[in-house]
Amino acid sequence: AAAEKGGWSSFMAKEVSEEPEAVANTLRGRIQDGAVVIPELADLDDLFTGIDRIIIIACGTASYAGQVGAYALEQWTRLPVHVELAHEFRYRDPVIDERSLVVSISQSGETMDTLMAVKYAAERGARTLSICNTQGATIPRESDAVVYTHAGPEVAVASTKAFVAQITAIYLLALHIGRVRGVLSPVEAAEHVRELEAVPGKIKRILDTEQEHTTQLAHWMADTRSVLFLGRHVGFPIALEGALKLKEISYIHAEGFAAGELKHGPIALIEAGQPVFVLVPSPRESSLLHDKVVSNIQEIRARGARVIVIAEEGDAAVLPFADEVLRIPLAGPLFEPLLAVVPLHIFAMGLATAKGLDVDQPRNLAKSVTVE
Ligand code: G6P
Repeated sequence: AAAEKGGWSSFMAKEVSEEPEAVANTLRGRIQDGAVVIPELADLDDLFTGIDRIIIIACGTASYAGQVGAYALEQWTRLPVHVELAHEFRYRDPVIDERSLVVSISQSGETMDTLMAVKYAAERGARTLSICNTQGATIPRESDAVVYTHAGPEVAVASTKAFVAQITAIYLLALHIGRVRGVLSPVEAAEHVRELEAVPGKIKRILDTEQEHTTQLAHWMADTRSVLFLGRHVGFPIALEGALKLKEISYIHAEGFAAGELKHGPIALIEAGQPVFVLVPSPRESSLLHDKVVSNIQEIRARGARVIVIAEEGDAAVLPFADEVLRIPLAGPLFEPLLAVVPLHIFAMGLATAKGLDVDQPRNLAKSVTVE
């Protein structure tokens, strides 16, 4: 097993270090002259022009990739997109028909809850597309189409590199559908492709520059009993993912909230010393969103929270209110989640390690849950 870890202390450490390649390999062979060309989808234009809604189903970390992906899918295809946990989906008589595309996301391709939801959707006449990391797994075999993520085998129970690969694959899918439906111009699509192609290098930079500080922070916080995560827009599902990772491997109570929801309840949790991660959107594209999150930071700081900010390089507005600042490179708003999640993965891993826990094999969890 030591050899399989390639010198890393854990599979999780190895897999986080592979996040740049997970994105790069998922893009590989799918971009030609700045345009998205997905060979697997070549003959499916009728499918994509014949739908009037998209429903994303998944469980766990894959569902947060779906929540991130939904923003891009909706923006680039102008189709209504709805994200749902697979095990909730089929118990409420959902409105689906042959004009619905059900996109499932699963690293293993064997998650029973997700598989049953895909079968249910197909029985109701919906079209099904699987985003999957495992060649020939059951879910892609049961689907009309598949876009594989190429993150490579993921061994650690908590998903990391598969998550960034899943977001990458949905973005490719969204660009493809946006072009097929004539919503995106070639120029617009090429701009987004350029952003995607820059992601691996930017993740690498975060691993190079922020890993030590983030791990240090995690060690200082080894006795922490609860951590909160706040995000807005695409930062919201990243807050949820940051909290899930911490629950999964460090057994610490953690919650993610939409920053705008703070005043509607969660702010009551804030007391002196409460650590809160805040994902700050770039001020360049939307100063409105940025400023709202900064005022959230002021609100919790005033109540004694210990604020750890994830903000883009050069954003000085956060400095007066942050106890710690983790930096991510500049990117378009929809591409920030692929960067901001990296310090959160490092943090969860660092904290579990500081507590002496087995980060690869957390208690009570299985890599692939093949029962309902
Ligand atoms: C399990 C794992 C999670 C994973 C989820 C979905 O619960 O512990 O890490 O996110 O399944 O797995 P999938 O293979 O469908 O992506």
